[in-house]
Amino acid sequence: MVTIGLFDSGLGGLTVVREVKKQLPGANVEFYGDNGRNPYGPLPKEKIVKYSRQILDFLSTKGIDLAIIACNTATAAALDEVKDAYPFPVLGVIEPGARGAIAATNNKKVGILGTQFTVESGAYDRVLKSMDPEIQVFGQACPLFTPYVEQGKQDSEEADQATADYLSNLKGTGIDTLVLGCTHYPVLINVIRRHMEAGVSIVDPAVETVAQAKELLKDKISAAAITAPSYRFYTSGDPALFARLGANILGESLDHVERVVL
Ligand code: DGL
Repeated sequence: MVTIGLFDSGLGGLTVVREVKKQLPGANVEFYGDNGRNPYGPLPKEKIVKYSRQILDFLSTKGIDLAIIACNTATAAALDEVKDAYPFPVLGVIEPGARGAIAATNNKKVGILGTQFTVESGAYDRVLKSMDPEIQVFGQACPLFTPYVEQGKQDSEEADQATADYLSNLKGTGIDTLVLGCTHYPVLINVIRRHMEAGVSIVDPAVETVAQAKELLKDKISAAAITAPSYRFYTSGDPALFARLGANILGESLDHVERVVL
């Protein structure tokens, strides 16, 4: 049995847990959501690095075999600084997301929706261009999206209006691929689809990220006996709210949600 540790600034990382459930149904999950300090998008790099270290230190005490930074913002800010500091592999979501985009695009024009930090960091541009120098990247920050998801307002009028506004900035760019470069955004997939031009491929980096985790863990997985996995969630916010909104994202009830403030 393998155990995967994941963290995010909040509920968005559950879109990555959902993918773990799909691709690694036997894996145990230890998830930390920093809802009490969310959103990370407007924060300076030093704070995001500090929070990421605190959370990885906490997850280290849970016997994990691998950690996934299930947050694009924390990946952009902290992956390089933390990836060699632990006795287990630490994966981010940006490189896998870029691989997904390269596989999806035909015309090499790729849109990135992300937080202010992720878009301004240029992390996707760098990785995409290192994989294919001809790729053109069009970034769009969507600062209202994370708060809508944290409040369970993904199907609201306001979310619809904000999506229309953000995506109108990508019209005319000719992108054929759009990366959901924040793990909260797959929760808004329906509204994003509604406002996106037909024919644009939408890439969720979670898919490639979990595939990479599966590959890294393959020896341990094949050796493990199949038993029912355990899912444990920790939040620096309100556990009842986390359990209620999280169940909608994960598609099942969250039985173990504990408040842990780091
Ligand atoms: N879910 C996160 C991401 O992937 C962070 C959102 C936020 O806290 O601003 O970027």
